[in-house]
Amino acid sequence: ILAVALCLGLFVGCSSKDANAPKEEVLEIKVGHGTAETTALHQGWLKFKELVEQKSDGKMTVKIFPNQQLGGDRELIEAVQLGNVTMTSPSTAPLAAFDPAFFVLDIPFLFSDRDMVYEVLDSQVGESLLDTLKEYNIKGLGYWENGFRNFTNSKLPVRSPQELSGIKVRTMENEIHMKAWSLLGANPTPMAFGELYTALQQKTVDAQENPFELIYATKFHEVQKYITKTQHIYSAYIPLMNNEFFNNLSSEYQQIIMDSIKEATAEQRQIAGKNDVEFEEKMRSTNEVIDLSGDEKQAFRNEMAPVLDLVKTKAGEDMVSAFTEAT
Ligand code: PAF
Repeated sequence: ILAVALCLGLFVGCSSKDANAPKEEVLEIKVGHGTAETTALHQGWLKFKELVEQKSDGKMTVKIFPNQQLGGDRELIEAVQLGNVTMTSPSTAPLAAFDPAFFVLDIPFLFSDRDMVYEVLDSQVGESLLDTLKEYNIKGLGYWENGFRNFTNSKLPVRSPQELSGIKVRTMENEIHMKAWSLLGANPTPMAFGELYTALQQKTVDAQENPFELIYATKFHEVQKYITKTQHIYSAYIPLMNNEFFNNLSSEYQQIIMDSIKEATAEQRQIAGKNDVEFEEKMRSTNEVIDLSGDEKQAFRNEMAPVLDLVKTKAGEDMVSAFTEAT
């Protein structure tokens, strides 16, 4: 009886195994990011997904988790480093906690316009910054657009640094940003992005700063009446991949990833630029948007200027001169 049972078991086992045998292995790329589905960042990932799946004939699939479903920027960078999440796209500011070279992009008023941004970031200078990530088992694949950051608050129409006195402003968890806001006379409070809407609504903080697109997409304009168009820092997103995952791909698949990122970058930047203009326009009808004159902007620039020395000590003189000479 035992022999028959064993044979039967073996037979059933074998036949069911055959029936379930995978036809061809499909490689899943798990992407986590922190912003809403209405942002250009999410649209960039959707484009990347479409391209990768199409170019690989469905042999690679991309699954996207937006809205911090898998964690905020810091957690996601760590998850990519460990390989628990394949890809993410933080702003450069939290990346500085991994490699201080990234503080170079926190120099206030480093870039004057988008064309200059793309020229520098897409050059060897931008490439050398991405290369610093390899040491952390992370591959930096390029630069996507978050945009020029603007200051919003619920208290008063700010036109000068003097008016920031005592204003509690949420900053990213980044030393240079905190220093810059204290030089302006505000009271900087580092906080994760996920907690920000509630903090603004409950007035735990009075102010925050982000590009127009994020202000609108995250509905901050509902709880922040005043928007000062400071454009004080350009924020880039960096699409990242676990380096080991990338290195283990065939050269054909690696090429698909690189080509898809390149194409998605063009589309992501184009949507970000369009949203920036459209969302600013929309908020002009619901909020008070304060345009600064050249002199007023210069006053912010002057107050923030001393952070440059701190950036030099963190990011290194060479990295700082590479960027300042290129801009
Ligand atoms: O303010 C922030 O935390 C950042 O701009 C962003 C993009 C929302 C997260 O990287």
